[in-house]
Amino acid sequence: MEFDELDSTNAALKRITEQGGEVAEGLLVWAKSQTGGRGRAGRAWQSPPGNVYASFLIKAPDATRHAPEIGFVGALAVRDAILELPRHNTAPPAVAFKWPNDVLIAGKKVCGMLPELATDPDGRQWIVLGIGINLIPVDVPEALYPVGSLADSHVDTKPAHVLTMLGRSLSAWLDTWRTDGFGAIREAWRAYGPQSGAPLSVRLPEGPVSGTFAGLDDDGALLLETSTGRRKLVVGDVMFGEV
Ligand code: BTN
Repeated sequence: MEFDELDSTNAALKRITEQGGEVAEGLLVWAKSQTGGRGRAGRAWQSPPGNVYASFLIKAPDATRHAPEIGFVGALAVRDAILELPRHNTAPPAVAFKWPNDVLIAGKKVCGMLPELATDPDGRQWIVLGIGINLIPVDVPEALYPVGSLADSHVDTKPAHVLTMLGRSLSAWLDTWRTDGFGAIREAWRAYGPQSGAPLSVRLPEGPVSGTFAGLDDDGALLLETSTGRRKLVVGDVMFGEV
């Protein structure tokens, strides 16, 4: 379903699902702009026209447990979609991941994910996977991390085209997740995430914590080796190096 403008594609897809609309796996709601785009940790997501604002509906038996896993599935799908897009005679961009679900190009965030939960009137649980991709530069004065766009890497494209690629790659990675489990997704994500031992600082609600990257736990939590021992983090904003 395509809209010129919505408050938030996540909010709209949740409303459709919860109010008993005709829903099915893969249902896509996207908008050319959002007036109330939602980011992680209650932040706003700048949503001017020209970028991708999309939410996909995903069936999951135990959605509460699996929602965080789907963010990693989404990051892999976005990476594949980006690499399939036409470029101006340039090498493929180096697309990397920042925990939990950010997609980076040349060290700048070009995409964020927001997995949320919805329950339909029959009590079935769904995951609403919100994906925002910057195709063109966006000014985010309050950004915690450098913000980039596909245009910065000479990838010249339009939202509808990206969504076609993304629909395919998401469906393929969801198949992998369902067949091989989150372990396979975690391994694939690790190939483009930080190296083991990389210095990381993480902003937590109670303050920053520094350490080195020690991998992802079985549920996708970040493992950080600190001077006082290993910590398992389920929320936080990763900064590379010092905060
Ligand atoms: C983040 O903070 O990194 C997550 C950003 C997620 C933004 C997308 S844009 C489409 C969907 N609808 C929303 O309101 N948010 C997500």
